[in-house]
Amino acid sequence: MEHLIINGGNKLKGEVSISGAKNAALPIVTASLMGVGKSVLYGIPNLRDINNLIKILRSLGAEVDLDYDQNKLMINTDAVSRLEVPYSLARKMRASYYALGALLARYGEATTTLPGGCEIGNRPIDLHLKGFRALGAEVKIEYGVVEIKANKLTGDKIYLDYPSVGATMNIIMAATTAEGKTIIENAAREPEIIDLANYLNVMGAKIKGAGTDIIRITGVEELTGSEYTIIPDRIESGTYMMAAAITGSELYIDNVLVEHIKPLIAKLKEMGVKIEEDVSGVKVISNGQLNSVDVKTLPYPGFPTDMQSQFMALLTQAEGNSVVVETVFENRFGHADELRRMGADIRIDGRTAMIKKANLTGAKVKATDLRAGAALILAALAAEGKTKITDIYHIERGYENVTEKLKGIGVNIKRVSTSE
Ligand code: EPZ
Repeated sequence: MEHLIINGGNKLKGEVSISGAKNAALPIVTASLMGVGKSVLYGIPNLRDINNLIKILRSLGAEVDLDYDQNKLMINTDAVSRLEVPYSLARKMRASYYALGALLARYGEATTTLPGGCEIGNRPIDLHLKGFRALGAEVKIEYGVVEIKANKLTGDKIYLDYPSVGATMNIIMAATTAEGKTIIENAAREPEIIDLANYLNVMGAKIKGAGTDIIRITGVEELTGSEYTIIPDRIESGTYMMAAAITGSELYIDNVLVEHIKPLIAKLKEMGVKIEEDVSGVKVISNGQLNSVDVKTLPYPGFPTDMQSQFMALLTQAEGNSVVVETVFENRFGHADELRRMGADIRIDGRTAMIKKANLTGAKVKATDLRAGAALILAALAAEGKTKITDIYHIERGYENVTEKLKGIGVNIKRVSTSE
């Protein structure tokens, strides 16, 4: 099993460049199935989840060429002949459910395994299916398999009980070829949704209002494969900004869209961290003196749940008491137990965590999910001594070249593969 060894206490220095957004790449690479012919996608990060998705596209018959040196992906869908996502691949990655919306829009049917829950919650897809049914699809769920069919897709008005990112994306895809107009109300507003809508519009879709809570789609006959460059990863950006804050360093982070990380910038400034924005990135300047703050996670444009774990690690070094409330997922404090093993003073009551400053020492800890793993890396940077982080496959799902990037800014880190 691979693990990371980090010796804490180093100051960070220099510059780190942010990769393409995992949560934009997953829907956009899947949406390439909707275009006739060839799409060329740029800014695609080399991540486990993306590599798993490429296997899924190939299993459906698409031709996929990968050039990770240029973070470039070429997909030709002319040979797609299967419309069922293989169980073994679908189980490895929840976001394989984006294939439902994409295949339904172009081929009128799609089948995949019902995505199970994961470490952070049971994560149903009832809102996705509500949208497909509203557009005229027949949804059959049996033996853990979701099968969707529609002879004809017809636009409708769909209200989302919760502004679900995945449901919004899946319904946008399915609605692109539904006859007439579709209106999604209480839609999610995340930047990755705007990115998906932009790519679909380049392919010939007619989508308006992405990024607001009302999205209007006018159905079109056909989409054509196109070129597109995806946005940088706002969660990766925030993670490196917090690395600078927790180590009391000065760090430049390149390829950042600051408008996507306003909640984090506001919170870091409240904590006493200096942030200088320029046209292509941000400089973070911290002297290591951090004020405590309270934070509540909310759908965009609120404070992102995907930065909650990392922010909690940062708060363990803030003077006084801090409070974190997680409103999006029902079980996203898995990292707290592991942080406590490093000496953190964290008390959990339901969806509320209370954090007091405590010195951290290195320990053997394990990543329980993607962002929990990132939180442990941040804690290890500030801890005295050596930290060993296992189950790092979680981390490598969402952070491209994480060991090399951290080494490049002064972290004493190594990635170890052992037979155990
Ligand atoms: C996306 O997940 C992201 N994943 C998650 O990032 C992120 O945490 C989440 O959005 C919220 O921002 C990808 O983009 C691949 P949701 P998604 O549907 O779409 C409930 C990471 O670390 N819900 O907005 O699954 C659900 O249970 C990952 O990169 C329903 O009830 O999130 C949850 O409580 C983790 N029914 C809430 O909505 C549904 O049909 C938010 O889920 C769908 C969702």
